[in-house]
Amino acid sequence: MTYLGIDLGTSGLRALLVDEEGRTLGSAERPYAQSHPHPGWSEQDPALWVAALDGAVAELRATCPRFADLKGIGVAGHMHGATLLDGAGAVLRPCILWNDTRSHAEAARLDALPGVRALSGNIVFPGFTAPKLEWVRTHEGEIFARVAKVLLPAAYLNFYLTGDAVADMSDSAGTSWLDVGARDWSDVLLGAGHMRRDQMPSLVEGSDRAGALKPDIAARWGLTGPVAVAGGAGDNAAAACGIGALSEGQGFVSLGTSGVLLAARDGYAPAPDTALHTFCHAVPGRWYQMGVMLSATDSLNWLARITGDSPAGLTRALGDDLRAPGVVRFLPYLSGERTPHNDAAIRGSFTGLAGATTREDLTRAVLEGVAFGLRDSLEALKGTGAHLDRVFAIGGGAASRLWVRMIASVLNLPLHLPAGGEFGAALGAARLGLCAATGTAPEAVMTAPEVGETIAPDAGLVAAFDDGYAAFRAAYPAIRAVQ
Ligand code: XUL
Repeated sequence: MTYLGIDLGTSGLRALLVDEEGRTLGSAERPYAQSHPHPGWSEQDPALWVAALDGAVAELRATCPRFADLKGIGVAGHMHGATLLDGAGAVLRPCILWNDTRSHAEAARLDALPGVRALSGNIVFPGFTAPKLEWVRTHEGEIFARVAKVLLPAAYLNFYLTGDAVADMSDSAGTSWLDVGARDWSDVLLGAGHMRRDQMPSLVEGSDRAGALKPDIAARWGLTGPVAVAGGAGDNAAAACGIGALSEGQGFVSLGTSGVLLAARDGYAPAPDTALHTFCHAVPGRWYQMGVMLSATDSLNWLARITGDSPAGLTRALGDDLRAPGVVRFLPYLSGERTPHNDAAIRGSFTGLAGATTREDLTRAVLEGVAFGLRDSLEALKGTGAHLDRVFAIGGGAASRLWVRMIASVLNLPLHLPAGGEFGAALGAARLGLCAATGTAPEAVMTAPEVGETIAPDAGLVAAFDDGYAAFRAAYPAIRAVQ
Protein backbone atom coordinates (compact mmCIF):
# COMPACT_ATOMS: atom_id res chain seq x y z
CA MET A 1 0.00 0.00 0.00
CA THR A 2 1.20 3.54 -0.72
CA TYR A 3 0.22 7.02 0.44
CA LEU A 4 0.42 10.40 -1.24
CA GLY A 5 1.32 13.60 0.60
CA ILE A 6 0.61 16.85 -1.21
CA ASP A 7 2.23 20.07 -0.01
CA LEU A 8 0.46 22.98 -1.67
CA GLY A 9 3.13 25.62 -1.03
CA THR A 10 3.20 29.31 -1.83
CA SER A 11 5.70 28.93 -4.66
CA GLY A 12 4.91 25.43 -5.83
CA LEU A 13 3.32 22.06 -5.15
CA ARG A 14 5.22 19.01 -3.97
CA ALA A 15 3.76 15.51 -4.21
CA LEU A 16 5.42 12.74 -2.22
CA LEU A 17 4.69 9.01 -2.45
CA VAL A 18 5.57 6.88 0.59
CA ASP A 19 5.16 3.23 1.56
CA GLU A 20 3.52 1.70 4.67
CA GLU A 21 6.57 2.66 6.77
CA GLY A 22 6.53 6.25 5.51
CA ARG A 23 9.64 5.65 3.38
CA THR A 24 9.98 7.79 0.26
CA LEU A 25 9.19 6.09 -3.03
CA GLY A 26 9.26 9.18 -5.18
CA SER A 27 8.41 12.86 -5.38
CA ALA A 28 7.55 15.47 -7.98
CA GLU A 29 7.26 19.25 -7.89
CA ARG A 30 5.56 21.87 -10.00
CA PRO A 31 6.19 25.62 -9.48
CA TYR A 32 3.66 28.42 -9.82
CA ALA A 33 3.69 32.14 -9.07
CA GLN A 34 1.86 34.55 -6.78
CA SER A 35 0.36 37.58 -8.45
CA HIS A 36 0.53 41.01 -6.83
CA PRO A 37 -2.06 43.14 -8.66
CA HIS A 38 -1.49 46.01 -6.18
CA PRO A 39 1.16 46.68 -3.51
CA GLY A 40 0.35 44.50 -0.47
CA TRP A 41 -1.92 42.18 -2.47
CA SER A 42 -1.08 38.54 -3.07
CA GLU A 43 -3.30 36.18 -5.04
CA GLN A 44 -3.25 32.81 -6.79
CA ASP A 45 -5.66 31.19 -9.23
CA PRO A 46 -6.70 27.81 -7.75
CA ALA A 47 -6.59 26.39 -11.29
CA LEU A 48 -2.78 26.65 -10.96
CA TRP A 49 -2.89 24.29 -7.95
CA VAL A 50 -4.99 21.73 -9.80
CA ALA A 51 -2.74 21.86 -12.86
CA ALA A 52 0.33 21.49 -10.62
CA LEU A 53 -1.23 18.49 -8.85
CA ASP A 54 -2.17 16.78 -12.09
CA GLY A 55 1.33 17.40 -13.50
CA ALA A 56 3.06 16.12 -10.36
CA VAL A 57 0.86 13.01 -10.26
CA ALA A 58 1.54 12.31 -13.94
CA GLU A 59 5.26 12.40 -13.18
CA LEU A 60 4.90 10.13 -10.13
CA ARG A 61 2.86 7.64 -12.15
CA ALA A 62 5.58 7.56 -14.78
CA THR A 63 8.42 7.14 -12.29
CA CYS A 64 6.89 5.10 -9.43
CA PRO A 65 5.07 1.89 -10.38
CA ARG A 66 3.78 1.62 -6.79
CA PHE A 67 1.60 4.67 -7.36
CA ALA A 68 -0.96 2.09 -8.50
CA ASP A 69 -1.13 0.78 -4.87
CA LEU A 70 -2.31 4.18 -3.57
CA LYS A 71 -4.66 3.87 -0.59
CA GLY A 72 -4.57 7.27 1.13
CA ILE A 73 -3.97 10.95 0.35
CA GLY A 74 -3.29 13.89 2.65
CA VAL A 75 -3.15 17.53 1.57
CA ALA A 76 -1.24 20.28 3.40
CA GLY A 77 -1.67 23.84 2.21
CA HIS A 78 -0.46 27.36 2.79
CA MET A 79 -2.85 28.69 5.41
CA HIS A 80 -5.51 31.39 5.63
CA GLY A 81 -6.22 31.77 1.88
CA ALA A 82 -9.82 32.49 0.89
CA THR A 83 -11.03 30.39 -2.05
CA LEU A 84 -14.60 31.47 -2.78
CA LEU A 85 -17.00 29.08 -4.50
CA ASP A 86 -20.48 29.69 -5.91
CA GLY A 87 -23.41 27.30 -5.50
CA ALA A 88 -22.16 25.16 -8.39
CA GLY A 89 -18.67 24.84 -6.88
CA ALA A 90 -17.04 27.24 -9.36
CA VAL A 91 -14.24 29.55 -8.16
CA LEU A 92 -15.50 33.16 -7.97
CA ARG A 93 -12.19 35.07 -7.87
CA PRO A 94 -8.47 34.36 -7.35
CA CYS A 95 -7.61 33.09 -3.87
CA ILE A 96 -6.44 35.89 -1.56
CA LEU A 97 -3.32 34.53 0.15
CA TRP A 98 -1.90 34.50 3.69
CA ASN A 99 0.63 37.24 2.91
CA ASP A 100 -1.93 39.66 1.45
CA THR A 101 -2.40 42.61 3.79
CA ARG A 102 -5.17 44.56 1.99
CA SER A 103 -7.72 43.78 4.72
CA HIS A 104 -5.87 45.45 7.59
CA ALA A 105 -8.74 47.85 8.37
CA GLU A 106 -11.27 44.99 8.37
CA ALA A 107 -8.95 42.94 10.59
CA ALA A 108 -8.64 45.77 13.09
CA ARG A 109 -12.43 46.18 13.20
CA LEU A 110 -13.04 42.46 13.82
CA ASP A 111 -10.19 42.30 16.32
CA ALA A 112 -11.74 45.06 18.41
CA LEU A 113 -15.12 43.32 18.75
CA PRO A 114 -15.77 41.95 22.23
CA GLY A 115 -15.20 38.21 22.54
CA VAL A 116 -13.50 37.74 19.18
CA ARG A 117 -9.99 37.17 20.52
CA ALA A 118 -11.27 35.06 23.42
CA LEU A 119 -13.15 32.68 21.10
CA SER A 120 -10.64 32.51 18.26
CA GLY A 121 -7.65 32.42 20.64
CA ASN A 122 -5.78 34.84 18.40
CA ILE A 123 -5.50 38.40 17.23
CA VAL A 124 -7.41 38.82 13.98
CA PHE A 125 -4.49 39.39 11.60
CA PRO A 126 -5.00 40.94 8.15
CA GLY A 127 -3.69 37.70 6.63
CA PHE A 128 -6.39 35.59 8.28
CA THR A 129 -9.49 34.57 6.36
CA ALA A 130 -12.35 36.42 8.09
CA PRO A 131 -11.06 39.95 7.31
CA LYS A 132 -10.52 38.93 3.68
CA LEU A 133 -14.22 38.12 3.39
CA GLU A 134 -15.06 41.42 5.02
CA TRP A 135 -12.91 43.12 2.37
CA VAL A 136 -14.73 41.23 -0.39
CA ARG A 137 -18.08 42.21 1.18
CA THR A 138 -17.10 45.88 1.09
CA HIS A 139 -15.26 46.05 -2.24
CA GLU A 140 -16.69 43.22 -4.34
CA GLY A 141 -20.28 43.04 -3.10
CA GLU A 142 -21.56 41.12 -6.13
CA ILE A 143 -19.03 38.36 -5.56
CA PHE A 144 -19.71 38.31 -1.82
CA ALA A 145 -23.43 37.81 -2.47
CA ARG A 146 -22.66 34.68 -4.53
CA VAL A 147 -20.35 32.98 -1.99
CA ALA A 148 -21.78 29.55 -1.20
CA LYS A 149 -18.60 28.11 0.35
CA VAL A 150 -15.25 29.46 1.56
CA LEU A 151 -12.46 26.91 1.36
CA LEU A 152 -8.87 27.19 2.50
CA PRO A 153 -6.32 26.13 -0.14
CA ALA A 154 -5.88 22.58 1.26
CA ALA A 155 -9.65 22.18 1.61
CA TYR A 156 -10.06 23.33 -1.98
CA LEU A 157 -7.79 20.50 -3.15
CA ASN A 158 -9.75 18.11 -0.91
CA PHE A 159 -12.88 19.37 -2.68
CA TYR A 160 -11.26 18.79 -6.07
CA LEU A 161 -10.27 15.26 -5.01
CA THR A 162 -13.47 14.18 -3.25
CA GLY A 163 -16.25 16.51 -4.36
CA ASP A 164 -16.93 17.22 -0.65
CA ALA A 165 -16.35 20.50 1.17
CA VAL A 166 -14.40 19.29 4.22
CA ALA A 167 -11.63 21.04 6.16
CA ASP A 168 -9.40 20.06 9.06
CA MET A 169 -9.11 21.81 12.43
CA SER A 170 -5.50 23.00 12.09
CA ASP A 171 -6.13 25.01 8.93
CA SER A 172 -9.59 26.16 10.03
CA ALA A 173 -8.04 27.58 13.22
CA GLY A 174 -6.44 30.31 11.08
CA THR A 175 -9.72 31.73 9.81
CA SER A 176 -10.89 33.71 12.89
CA TRP A 177 -14.20 31.85 12.49
CA LEU A 178 -13.23 28.80 14.56
CA ASP A 179 -13.61 28.42 18.32
CA VAL A 180 -10.07 27.08 18.59
CA GLY A 181 -10.53 25.64 22.10
CA ALA A 182 -13.81 23.86 21.21
CA ARG A 183 -12.59 22.82 17.70
CA ASP A 184 -15.84 23.93 16.06
CA TRP A 185 -17.11 26.83 13.98
CA SER A 186 -18.33 29.64 16.22
CA ASP A 187 -21.65 31.25 15.31
CA VAL A 188 -20.54 34.36 17.19
CA LEU A 189 -17.33 34.67 15.14
CA LEU A 190 -19.12 33.84 11.89
CA GLY A 191 -21.77 36.45 12.67
CA ALA A 192 -19.10 39.06 13.42
CA GLY A 193 -17.67 38.45 9.94
CA HIS A 194 -21.09 38.41 8.19
CA MET A 195 -20.72 34.72 7.39
CA ARG A 196 -22.95 31.69 7.99
CA ARG A 197 -22.21 28.13 9.09
CA ASP A 198 -23.61 26.74 5.80
CA GLN A 199 -20.86 28.65 3.95
CA MET A 200 -18.22 26.72 5.88
CA PRO A 201 -16.88 23.25 5.02
CA SER A 202 -17.67 20.49 7.48
CA LEU A 203 -14.88 19.81 9.96
CA VAL A 204 -12.81 16.72 10.66
CA GLU A 205 -9.51 16.14 12.42
CA GLY A 206 -6.57 16.21 10.00
CA SER A 207 -5.80 12.53 10.54
CA ASP A 208 -9.43 11.47 10.05
CA ARG A 209 -11.06 10.61 6.77
CA ALA A 210 -12.59 13.54 4.86
CA GLY A 211 -13.88 11.48 1.93
CA ALA A 212 -12.94 9.20 -0.94
CA LEU A 213 -11.08 9.99 -4.15
CA LYS A 214 -13.67 10.63 -6.88
CA PRO A 215 -14.04 7.72 -9.33
CA ASP A 216 -13.27 9.87 -12.39
CA ILE A 217 -9.97 11.09 -10.90
CA ALA A 218 -9.10 7.57 -9.71
CA ALA A 219 -9.68 6.24 -13.22
CA ARG A 220 -7.58 9.04 -14.74
CA TRP A 221 -4.79 8.26 -12.28
CA GLY A 222 -4.95 4.52 -13.13
CA LEU A 223 -6.25 3.48 -9.69
CA THR A 224 -8.71 0.68 -9.13
CA GLY A 225 -9.22 0.29 -5.36
CA PRO A 226 -10.78 2.85 -2.99
CA VAL A 227 -8.53 5.74 -1.89
CA ALA A 228 -9.21 7.66 1.35
CA VAL A 229 -8.56 11.41 1.53
CA ALA A 230 -7.62 12.74 4.98
CA GLY A 231 -8.78 15.98 6.56
CA GLY A 232 -5.25 17.25 5.85
CA ALA A 233 -3.65 20.26 7.51
CA GLY A 234 -2.30 23.76 7.32
CA ASP A 235 1.30 23.55 6.15
CA ASN A 236 2.82 24.30 9.55
CA ALA A 237 0.78 21.64 11.39
CA ALA A 238 1.66 19.20 8.60
CA ALA A 239 5.36 20.02 8.92
CA ALA A 240 5.03 19.39 12.68
CA CYS A 241 3.56 15.96 11.82
CA GLY A 242 6.48 15.41 9.44
CA ILE A 243 9.11 15.99 12.13
CA GLY A 244 7.14 14.36 14.94
CA ALA A 245 6.39 17.56 16.90
CA LEU A 246 3.22 16.65 18.79
CA SER A 247 4.18 17.26 22.42
CA GLU A 248 5.49 20.01 24.67
CA GLY A 249 9.17 20.80 24.02
CA GLN A 250 9.07 19.68 20.38
CA GLY A 251 9.10 22.15 17.51
CA PHE A 252 10.78 23.53 14.44
CA VAL A 253 12.11 26.63 12.84
CA SER A 254 11.01 26.81 9.22
CA LEU A 255 12.77 28.91 6.60
CA GLY A 256 10.23 29.02 3.80
CA THR A 257 8.56 31.93 2.04
CA SER A 258 7.36 32.69 5.58
CA GLY A 259 9.55 32.17 8.63
CA VAL A 260 8.01 30.17 11.45
CA LEU A 261 9.05 29.14 14.94
CA LEU A 262 6.60 26.48 16.14
CA ALA A 263 6.19 24.83 19.53
CA ALA A 264 3.80 21.92 20.09
CA ARG A 265 1.67 22.37 23.23
CA ASP A 266 0.05 19.64 25.31
CA GLY A 267 -3.06 21.69 25.96
CA TYR A 268 -4.89 24.76 24.74
CA ALA A 269 -3.07 27.80 26.17
CA PRO A 270 -4.01 30.78 23.98
CA ALA A 271 -2.14 34.06 24.23
CA PRO A 272 -4.50 36.34 22.28
CA ASP A 273 -2.91 39.51 23.64
CA THR A 274 0.33 38.67 21.86
CA ALA A 275 0.95 38.28 18.14
CA LEU A 276 1.65 34.57 18.65
CA HIS A 277 -0.68 32.17 16.90
CA THR A 278 -2.41 29.41 18.90
CA PHE A 279 -3.94 26.84 16.55
CA CYS A 280 -5.37 23.33 16.69
CA HIS A 281 -2.89 20.64 15.69
CA ALA A 282 -3.75 18.30 12.81
CA VAL A 283 -4.27 15.40 15.22
CA PRO A 284 -7.06 15.16 17.81
CA GLY A 285 -6.77 16.82 21.22
CA ARG A 286 -3.56 18.73 20.49
CA TRP A 287 -2.66 22.37 19.79
CA TYR A 288 0.49 24.30 18.93
CA GLN A 289 1.78 27.86 19.08
CA MET A 290 3.94 29.69 16.58
CA GLY A 291 5.35 33.04 15.66
CA VAL A 292 5.23 33.94 11.97
CA MET A 293 7.25 36.39 9.89
CA LEU A 294 5.93 37.05 6.41
CA SER A 295 9.19 37.29 4.42
CA ALA A 296 11.92 34.81 5.29
CA THR A 297 13.36 33.21 2.14
CA ASP A 298 11.26 35.80 0.34
CA SER A 299 13.71 38.43 1.65
CA LEU A 300 16.71 36.57 0.27
CA ASN A 301 14.85 35.89 -2.99
CA TRP A 302 14.20 39.62 -3.29
CA LEU A 303 17.89 40.46 -2.79
CA ALA A 304 18.84 37.80 -5.34
CA ARG A 305 16.36 39.23 -7.83
CA ILE A 306 17.57 42.78 -7.59
CA THR A 307 21.25 41.84 -7.62
CA GLY A 308 20.87 39.41 -10.53
CA ASP A 309 22.16 36.50 -8.47
CA SER A 310 20.50 33.39 -7.01
CA PRO A 311 19.74 32.90 -3.30
CA ALA A 312 22.22 30.00 -3.20
CA GLY A 313 24.81 32.14 -5.02
CA LEU A 314 24.43 34.91 -2.45
CA THR A 315 24.85 32.62 0.55
CA ARG A 316 27.68 30.67 -1.13
CA ALA A 317 29.63 33.92 -1.45
CA LEU A 318 29.68 34.19 2.37
CA GLY A 319 31.33 30.78 2.69
CA ASP A 320 31.28 29.30 6.17
CA ASP A 321 32.27 32.53 7.86
CA LEU A 322 29.86 33.17 10.77
CA ARG A 323 30.65 36.61 12.20
CA ALA A 324 29.29 39.04 14.75
CA PRO A 325 26.69 41.33 13.16
CA GLY A 326 28.06 44.41 11.44
CA VAL A 327 26.58 47.89 11.12
CA VAL A 328 24.34 47.13 8.15
CA ARG A 329 20.89 46.18 9.39
CA PHE A 330 17.92 44.82 7.44
CA LEU A 331 14.33 44.86 8.65
CA PRO A 332 12.68 41.94 6.78
CA TYR A 333 9.23 43.49 6.49
CA LEU A 334 8.79 43.36 2.71
CA SER A 335 5.12 42.34 3.06
CA GLY A 336 4.47 43.81 6.51
CA GLU A 337 4.88 41.85 9.72
CA ARG A 338 2.91 39.54 12.04
CA THR A 339 4.87 38.44 15.13
CA PRO A 340 5.43 40.45 17.25
CA HIS A 341 4.30 43.76 15.72
CA ASN A 342 1.12 42.89 13.77
CA ASP A 343 1.91 45.72 11.39
CA ALA A 344 0.55 45.34 7.86
CA ALA A 345 1.80 48.74 6.71
CA ILE A 346 5.46 48.54 7.73
CA ARG A 347 7.91 47.83 4.92
CA GLY A 348 11.49 46.60 4.90
CA SER A 349 14.57 48.75 5.22
CA PHE A 350 18.34 48.69 5.11
CA THR A 351 20.23 50.97 7.48
CA GLY A 352 23.93 51.54 8.07
CA LEU A 353 24.87 51.59 4.39
CA ALA A 354 28.18 53.21 3.42
CA GLY A 355 30.15 53.67 0.23
CA ALA A 356 32.19 50.62 1.19
CA THR A 357 29.15 48.36 1.74
CA THR A 358 29.38 45.24 -0.40
CA ARG A 359 26.85 42.84 -1.76
CA GLU A 360 28.11 40.32 0.84
CA ASP A 361 27.33 42.83 3.60
CA LEU A 362 23.78 43.12 2.29
CA THR A 363 23.37 39.33 2.15
CA ARG A 364 24.67 38.98 5.69
CA ALA A 365 22.28 41.69 6.89
CA VAL A 366 19.32 39.95 5.21
CA LEU A 367 20.18 36.60 6.80
CA GLU A 368 20.61 38.33 10.17
CA GLY A 369 17.35 40.28 9.81
CA VAL A 370 15.43 37.05 9.27
CA ALA A 371 17.26 35.40 12.20
CA PHE A 372 16.37 38.36 14.45
CA GLY A 373 12.75 38.18 13.27
CA LEU A 374 12.69 34.55 14.40
CA ARG A 375 14.20 35.61 17.73
CA ASP A 376 11.18 37.90 18.12
CA SER A 377 9.00 34.81 17.86
CA LEU A 378 11.14 32.92 20.37
CA GLU A 379 10.81 35.75 22.90
CA ALA A 380 7.02 35.78 22.36
CA LEU A 381 6.85 31.99 22.82
CA LYS A 382 8.90 32.15 26.02
CA GLY A 383 6.36 34.64 27.35
CA THR A 384 3.61 32.03 27.13
CA GLY A 385 5.56 29.38 29.01
CA ALA A 386 6.27 27.33 25.89
CA HIS A 387 9.66 25.71 25.98
CA LEU A 388 11.62 24.17 23.17
CA ASP A 389 14.15 21.45 23.72
CA ARG A 390 14.04 19.54 20.44
CA VAL A 391 13.96 21.92 17.48
CA PHE A 392 14.49 20.90 13.87
CA ALA A 393 15.49 23.37 11.15
CA ILE A 394 13.41 22.79 8.01
CA GLY A 395 12.38 24.57 4.81
CA GLY A 396 14.31 25.59 1.72
CA GLY A 397 16.46 28.16 3.55
CA ALA A 398 17.82 25.45 5.88
CA ALA A 399 19.96 24.29 2.94
CA SER A 400 22.28 27.18 3.90
CA ARG A 401 24.40 25.83 6.74
CA LEU A 402 25.63 29.33 7.53
CA TRP A 403 22.07 30.59 7.96
CA VAL A 404 21.19 27.68 10.29
CA ARG A 405 24.37 28.30 12.34
CA MET A 406 23.46 31.98 12.56
CA ILE A 407 19.90 31.21 13.69
CA ALA A 408 21.14 28.69 16.29
CA SER A 409 23.37 31.44 17.73
CA VAL A 410 20.70 34.17 17.55
CA LEU A 411 18.13 31.89 19.25
CA ASN A 412 20.81 30.37 21.50
CA LEU A 413 19.23 27.00 20.77
CA PRO A 414 20.77 23.87 19.27
CA LEU A 415 19.08 23.11 15.93
CA HIS A 416 18.75 19.61 14.52
CA LEU A 417 19.11 18.92 10.82
CA PRO A 418 17.34 15.73 9.76
CA ALA A 419 19.65 13.01 8.43
CA GLY A 420 18.12 13.18 4.98
CA GLY A 421 15.10 12.05 3.09
CA GLU A 422 11.73 13.65 3.61
CA PHE A 423 10.56 15.35 6.78
CA GLY A 424 8.51 18.41 5.85
CA ALA A 425 4.86 19.21 5.20
CA ALA A 426 4.58 16.70 2.32
CA LEU A 427 5.65 13.85 4.62
CA GLY A 428 3.29 15.11 7.34
CA ALA A 429 0.47 15.14 4.78
CA ALA A 430 1.30 11.60 3.60
CA ARG A 431 1.27 10.48 7.25
CA LEU A 432 -2.19 12.01 7.67
CA GLY A 433 -3.31 10.13 4.55
CA LEU A 434 -1.96 6.91 6.05
CA CYS A 435 -3.80 7.47 9.34
CA ALA A 436 -7.05 8.26 7.50
CA ALA A 437 -6.79 5.17 5.29
CA THR A 438 -5.70 2.66 7.95
CA GLY A 439 -7.01 4.06 11.24
CA THR A 440 -3.47 3.89 12.74
CA ALA A 441 -3.06 6.15 15.81
CA PRO A 442 -1.28 9.40 14.81
CA GLU A 443 1.19 9.08 17.72
CA ALA A 444 2.48 5.82 16.20
CA VAL A 445 3.08 7.44 12.83
CA MET A 446 4.24 11.02 13.54
CA THR A 447 7.73 10.14 14.74
CA ALA A 448 10.87 12.30 14.64
CA PRO A 449 13.36 11.82 11.80
CA GLU A 450 16.87 10.64 12.49
CA VAL A 451 19.09 13.60 13.42
CA GLY A 452 21.87 14.00 10.85
CA GLU A 453 23.63 16.83 12.62
CA THR A 454 23.02 19.16 15.53
CA ILE A 455 24.14 22.74 15.01
CA ALA A 456 25.05 24.23 18.38
CA PRO A 457 25.01 27.98 19.04
CA ASP A 458 28.46 29.51 18.65
CA ALA A 459 29.23 30.37 22.30
CA GLY A 460 31.72 33.04 21.25
CA LEU A 461 29.10 34.91 19.21
CA VAL A 462 25.91 34.59 21.28
CA ALA A 463 26.53 37.86 23.17
CA ALA A 464 27.28 39.77 19.95
CA PHE A 465 24.08 38.44 18.39
CA ASP A 466 22.19 39.46 21.55
CA ASP A 467 23.48 43.00 21.02
CA GLY A 468 22.54 42.82 17.34
CA TYR A 469 19.06 41.70 18.31
CA ALA A 470 18.71 44.63 20.74
CA ALA A 471 19.67 47.02 17.91
CA PHE A 472 17.19 45.27 15.60
CA ARG A 473 14.39 45.74 18.16
CA ALA A 474 15.28 49.40 18.58
CA ALA A 475 15.22 49.93 14.80
CA TYR A 476 11.53 49.00 14.42
CA PRO A 477 10.01 52.00 16.22
CA ALA A 478 12.52 54.33 14.58
CA ILE A 479 11.70 53.07 11.08
CA ARG A 480 7.99 52.97 11.92
CA ALA A 481 8.11 56.65 12.81
CA VAL A 482 9.45 57.67 9.41
CA GLN A 483 7.38 55.38 7.18
C1 XUL B 1 1.02 30.84 8.98
C2 XUL B 1 1.24 31.49 7.67
C3 XUL B 1 2.27 30.95 6.73
C4 XUL B 1 1.57 30.20 5.63
C5 XUL B 1 2.47 29.89 4.45
O1 XUL B 1 0.16 31.54 9.81
O2 XUL B 1 0.60 32.44 7.32
O3 XUL B 1 3.21 30.17 7.39
O4 XUL B 1 0.95 29.04 6.12
O5 XUL B 1 3.35 28.93 4.67
